[in-house]
Amino acid sequence: ASLREINTLGLDVCCDEFLSISDKQELVNVCYETYHSDRAMLILGGGSNVVFSENFAGTVIQVDTKGITQQEDAENVYLTVEAGENWHDLVKYCLAHGIYGIENLALIPGSVGAAPIQNIGAYGVELADVCHSVEFVDLDAGEMYEISNQDCQFSYRESIFKQQLRNKVLITAVTLKLSRCWKPNLSYVPLTSLNKETVDADMIVDLVCKTRASKLPDPRVLGNVGSFFKNPIIDTEKLKQLLTEFPNMVHYNLDNSQHKLAAGWLIDNAGLKGVCVGGACIHQQQALVIVNNNSATGADVCNLALKIIDEIEQRFDVQLEVEPRIIAEFGEVILS
Ligand code: FAD
Ligand code: EPU
Repeated sequence: ASLREINTLGLDVCCDEFLSISDKQELVNVCYETYHSDRAMLILGGGSNVVFSENFAGTVIQVDTKGITQQEDAENVYLTVEAGENWHDLVKYCLAHGIYGIENLALIPGSVGAAPIQNIGAYGVELADVCHSVEFVDLDAGEMYEISNQDCQFSYRESIFKQQLRNKVLITAVTLKLSRCWKPNLSYVPLTSLNKETVDADMIVDLVCKTRASKLPDPRVLGNVGSFFKNPIIDTEKLKQLLTEFPNMVHYNLDNSQHKLAAGWLIDNAGLKGVCVGGACIHQQQALVIVNNNSATGADVCNLALKIIDEIEQRFDVQLEVEPRIIAEFGEVILS
């Protein structure tokens, strides 16, 4: 089966078998059986954070389970959302029902089930701020668990689902802890320009969507997976050293003497905007995005990524870490 329409990079790759499953029990059974068979398996949501480096020699199982259930107490609204729901549709659902907390996360592509894996984040909010618990099946044991926010070990673009539980679980649902009380988060540029007394959730969603559209290519028009690298985190000593040489370098101070650099700035200032390998290019409007300009292959994308890692290491002595998941013939691989 062709996977071209179900990866936002638009890579023209195939898999041996493709299943899209909307019944939860059937999904659990099929994932469990395939995981314990000798066939390779890939669980997929919206395909917006995967790079197929070649054809996939196994079964791709797309999570298509739907449903939202709502519980409310005096302070909070708890939404339990099935993994196959679309994230941005959930943001719109909340807007329509006067439920607040995820308006800053508008327009992030993909499924609800994938959201905890890399702790999706944008414009000053991340999933960890609103996640109450995550329900998943441990595919080794075949048991279903629900773990708390704390046990998900969320940090910047990280969670237990990329560490101990990496490629070992099927996430089936996420419960969000949201609110009917309106408390805007305007900490992040350009939301800082809004008036906190008069701003409403629609205004935040509008500005986030407008900002995103001005920087990030629409995958339906130009294939991409959003940011290709995480923003690197360095210590104060390294920061001082870099600022001596690059006084204009963009950086954000975190807690405990750590600092986050803007990988987009590093790539841009290394003069790499527009550089291509085959059909894969560094985006002109946002250097942190690799786009499929012209029938790129997965190998083009990976080779371009390796070239960027190499250049950034040579120029800044900073190690970039790939954000999307690289899927080779039999499963995930780490680019190196
Ligand atoms: P997929 O690409 O389908 O899968 C990603 C990984 O998760 C794979 O390893 C897959 O095996 C695994 N997986 C998926 N679903 C499940 C499940 N139910 N159970 C177990 N494993 C599963 N991310 C941000 O954090 N912030 C942003 O602002 C942002 N902007 C983006 C903008 C664009 C234009 C694009 C294309 C991407 C952007 N992303 C952003 C990345 C992407 O939206 C997120 O990583 C998203 O959570 C991926 O969801 P998905 O359903 O498409 O995952
Ligand atoms: N910059 C440049 N040149 C570029 C790109 C960026 O100089 O070509 C500079 C910008 O001027 C800015 C800084 O780098 O000062 C940061 O850029 P931007 O605000 O566009 O955000 P980002 O750090 O590139 C991160 C997330 C995005 C998220 C936005 C908004 C990561 C890896 N990326 O991007 O998430 O939407 O902030 O919060 O943390 C994703 O994960 O896929 C993603 C798109």
